Parts: sequence; structure tokens; C-alpha cells
Amino acid sequence: MAESKENVQMEKITSLCKRRGFIFQSSEIYGGINGFWDYGPLGAELKRNVKELWWNALVRRREDVAGLEAAIIMHPQIWKASGHVDTFADQMVEDPLTNKRFRADQVEPQTGIVYHFAGVVEQGEYLGRDMTGDEYVKIANNIKAPQLHALNGYPAEALPRLKAQELARMEKGGGAQAAKLLSQKGQWLPFSVLLPQEKASPEEARKKAMLFYQTKHRVLNPLLIGGTREEVVDSQDYSPDSGARLSYPRPFNLMFSSYAGPIESEENKVYLRPETAQAIFAQFKNVLETSRQKVPFGIAQIGKAFRNEVTPRNYTFRSREFEQMELEFFIPPDEAVEAIHGAVATVPATGHPGEPQPNWGWQAWHRYWVEERVRFYEDIGLTRETLGFHEQTPEELAHYARACTDILFKFPFSKRDEKGELKGEELEGIAARSDFDLSQHQRFSGRPMHVFDEELRNAWAKLPKEKQDDLWQRFYENRKRYLTKMGIKTEAAQKQATKDADMLARGNYIPHVIEPSAGVDRLILALIANAYTETVKTDAQGKSETLYVMKLHPRVAPVKAGIFPLLKNRPELVKKALEIRDLLRPWLNVFYDESGAIGRRYARQDEAGTPFCVTVDFDTLGEKPERPDWLDTVTLRHRDDGRQERVKISELRDWLLARVR
Ligand code: GAP
Repeated sequence: MAESKENVQMEKITSLCKRRGFIFQSSEIYGGINGFWDYGPLGAELKRNVKELWWNALVRRREDVAGLEAAIIMHPQIWKASGHVDTFADQMVEDPLTNKRFRADQVEPQTGIVYHFAGVVEQGEYLGRDMTGDEYVKIANNIKAPQLHALNGYPAEALPRLKAQELARMEKGGGAQAAKLLSQKGQWLPFSVLLPQEKASPEEARKKAMLFYQTKHRVLNPLLIGGTREEVVDSQDYSPDSGARLSYPRPFNLMFSSYAGPIESEENKVYLRPETAQAIFAQFKNVLETSRQKVPFGIAQIGKAFRNEVTPRNYTFRSREFEQMELEFFIPPDEAVEAIHGAVATVPATGHPGEPQPNWGWQAWHRYWVEERVRFYEDIGLTRETLGFHEQTPEELAHYARACTDILFKFPFSKRDEKGELKGEELEGIAARSDFDLSQHQRFSGRPMHVFDEELRNAWAKLPKEKQDDLWQRFYENRKRYLTKMGIKTEAAQKQATKDADMLARGNYIPHVIEPSAGVDRLILALIANAYTETVKTDAQGKSETLYVMKLHPRVAPVKAGIFPLLKNRPELVKKALEIRDLLRPWLNVFYDESGAIGRRYARQDEAGTPFCVTVDFDTLGEKPERPDWLDTVTLRHRDDGRQERVKISELRDWLLARVR
């Protein structure tokens, strides 16, 4: 079957990434390890640039965000409070033939003919002198489904020694024992297999069924029972690998666990963090107190996260170890904003709402952060056309979240809509998470997570009684809803919500949060996929060559400039080129290259995504008397259009910095 265009494109990208040292498979010399990736020399620089740009945009260039770098392993209670221990799970299904596991919602839909088998009978072992195969099947067919589950704990080692007569005796005694034996040996286990229409035949289906009973359940001589046939369209119940019917979905917790210290006990169990966000919530009070910030303000963190993904896929897109760039932006509840400013500002549903205003509620802040993040992506070369948006539906939203906008990038492997357009895959989610996170940590740690706002206390005191009552009631209802959702009994929830609403009236509240959460590795993959271009060049002799250019934005490009002497055997050219390299090095990542023809050197830098190449030639040395103005200038070549211009060495650093920062 021909490969899809998208797969071919991804293969080309993967191959360039490996060839040029952007991304390698982790532990490749041992055959690799699924879901883990290493970044090579160019990839490491690219990643570093992306993280630094994010940090600069969100932390250093803002007055209202502070940074954090927390430990990966934290107190396990953090993951209880956040809900990860109990609910951070994917529904997983398993292929009974290959043992491969899939995320239930990601199984590729299958169409074809399904053959169902009800079970097997072991020929020979249970077919004794006094019972024929037919008789046995009759007995087996009489066994009722509930009997299959009737008994547990029969010693497995006794099974092979059982004789047909004993089986028959058991059957006379009600069949339950026989049923148990059958199910224990996998003989009564139903098995179904989907075969594509063109390959569907009862023989092929029987072959697969025999494999299932023989290899998975050690029935040496299976006599298959049943074999009904059914046509199936777009079903997610069958394995894309073997066609076997997948197991029932089971929840599978995605957190990697280990033990802190030498004793492997439940109380020493720890988790590798599945997101960086929780450390921000846990350190909220410390950062607030030491950074002299005031709500609204944010805490940002970049760091590793780990998820034991059931099916890592699409190259680095879904990995088991990855990096996140997360901002938790803390804002007052809308009731507090309304008490101080009379009303919460309304903002248009689209577009940037402008500079933050004191009367913004959660909707304005949410819109603001979505637009700020899109601007960030545009600033590093991902245009709006390459992005998409997904507003999570009420069914998709976490129970505590008020809204979540996913920013998507149209990867070559993305699904297409009805019009055939790429829909895009999630790069980042911007969630309005209410006061859930800090409230949970307050309940689990017993430490108060309130902030005190004097302006609120003063404004509240001046409000008319009806307004106070209205705000109090709304706040009370929100808190009660949260507490009852968390399993607190109605009376206790009412009592606590009353306390919380009374505290609001005195100027205290637990901040709400807007969370822009982005994946570094997904962004790197998006930048690489976006930058990849290839052109076929044919020379005068008709010889064709494919040229690859990585059109990375100069801000993220791993190498900012290639520095070349025109010829390597002319010491005066080499000397000057090395001087220029040393002049630029403290400011930019540059790469000196003297080997091969100049065209080859340009091509190598094009593949690496280097936006500019600087060549020291004879004009640099003043060898053209008619152009004295070219003395101490270099040829500067632009990657994307091959344009060349002369730039003075004395101006080169600033020229480059202006374009790569
Ligand atoms: N604190 C919120 C949070 O972690 P998420 O949507 O689960 O939300 C945020 O993750 C971002 O982290 C995603 O948008 C994605 O970019 C990245 N991410 C999540 N799981 C990933 C994985 N298995 N591999 C690579 N990146 C992942």
C-alpha cells in the first residue's frame, strides 16, 4: 500500500533531524526505547533558544511574573491533592495476540469481516475413551455463562492431569466445575478477529484463533467452538496490528513511580512529576512572600515532566519524558473584582483585549493569555495560518475548569476536517482553572492559601447591603459547589463555604488561576516541521539534486551565522575569518567552516537552519583598488533567498543581533 503523503513528509523530517543532529532516538545503540528522545548538537541549541525566548517573554520582560525551578520529585500528597493519584489515567486496551497496548480513544478504526469463536476444547487431553469430541462440545455448549465465573482458586497444576471421565463427572454435578476448568485454561474464552474484506476467510480466522488458544492459553490441540461471521465498519474494538478483538478498557495511571530511600514500601513511594504546575501551587505562598508580588501575578516554570503514555507516537509529539513551559497566573475571583470596581469588564470574544486592567475578570484574563501566547508563536515564525484553535467542550473540560482553549499546530500527521484541511494538534492549552488547585492544597496540607486584599476589604465595607448579599451568595455557591464535588458532606460544605464567603467580605480569598501550559518538545517539532523545505535543482548537464533548507526563524535558529574564509589555503583569509568568529562568539552562536567549496558550505548551513553566512573574501582584504569601500567588509548571504550584500566588519555584530534577537 502506498504511504500517505503525511507519513512520507514525517519520514523525511525525521531523517533530516537524525542526519543533521537535531533529534536522535534515545539509547539507539541498544535498539532505542519507546517514547524517549535525545536532542543532538543542533537540537540542543534550538531547544535552549526556545526556552530562553519563553522565559524572557513571560518572566524577564514582565513586571507581574516570577520564576521557579522546583524539584521533579515532590511529596506524594501533592499528587493526591491534585487528583493525579486517583484520576490521571488513560483507558487502555490490549491486543491479546501481540500484547500491544493502545489508548482506547486512539485505536485506528477498522473495517472488515469479523469471525467470532466462543471457545475451544482440548482434543485428546479431555477426550477420553468414553467421550467423543461431539459429546464434549455438547457438554461445553451447555455450560451457561454465569458458571464461567462461578469458581475461583482451583489449583492450576491439577489441570493437565484431569481426565475426561472426571470432567464428565463434574459436568453431571452441575457443570460449574467443568466451566471453571474451561475458563481457567482459556478454553471458554471467546475470541474474535477482524480481517480486511480482501483477506477475509474462515481459514485465516481459524489460524488466528488457533494462535490465540495455542500460544496464549497453551491449549495444544484446540477444537474451536463456534465461528460466526459479521460485517463491521469503522470499529475501534479490533487491533490495528493483528485484527484480534481488544480487551475491555482498563484505567492505566500515567505516573511513573519509584521509592525515595532504600526501602521499597508504600510510604516511601514517590512519583516523577507528570506536570510542572503542581510545584507552582505548592510554592505559591513562598513565592508570593519573597517576590513582593500582588495578585494578579504569575509564577512560571520550565522543566521536565514524565508520563507513562500507553502509546507514545508521532515522533516526539507524545513522549514519555518531555519538557513543559507553564505559567500559573493568579487572579482575584470575579466577586472581588466586582466589589472593588462595581462590575467586571466585558471583553470581545476574539482579538487581544489590550493591556491588563484592574477590572478584568477571569474571561478577560483568559482571552489575554490566549492572544499573548499566539503572539509568542508568531514571533518565532509560526504564522496564524499554521495554527488552529480548539475550545474545549463542557464534556472535555475538567470539572473545575471554566474554559480551556487549545492552540494547535498543523503537523503533517494531523487529522483533516471535512474539507480536507489539516485540523492541527495541541501545542498548548490555556485553561481557566478557577480556585481549584490552591483550594485542594489548602485542604490537603492544612496551610492557608488565602491572600489578603486591603482594597477589597475597604470597598466591601462601602457596598450597599443588597450588593454585599448578592456577592456573598454567589461566592458562597461557588465554594459550596467545589466542596461538594470534592466529596465533602452537604452540611460540612455549607459550613466551610459560609466561612469562605465571610472571609471574602473581610478581604480574603483563594486566588483563581489562568494556566497557559506549553510543551517544549511539541513546539520544537512544530518549528522543525514548519521550517522544512526541499527543492530539486537540476544543473546544465541535467543532473538533479535535492536541496534541503530549514527555514527556522533567526530567533530560534541553532546557529545564527556561518563564518567562512573563501579559501582555506590562504592564511590571510583564514586569519580574518577566525578573528570575526572570535569577535561574534561572545554574543551569538556562530559556526566556523573552511572545508569544501563555498556552495557546499552554504548548503550545509541551509540544512542546519542557519539564517546568515558570512564570507571573508579578497574584497575583505582590499584587493579591489576600485572598491576601497569594500575593505574590511564581508559578503553576507541570506539563507531563504540566497541574496548577498556587503556588511562592514565593524557593524557586523549589531547587524546580526538586530535580526536574531
Ligand atoms: N498543567 C496542565 C497540563 O499539564 P496538559 O495539556 O496535560 O496540561 C500541557 O499538558 C502541554 O504539555 C501540552 O499542551 C503539550 O504541549 C505538552 N505535553 C503533554 N503531554 C505530552 C507528551 N506526552 N509528550 C510531549 N508533550 C506533552
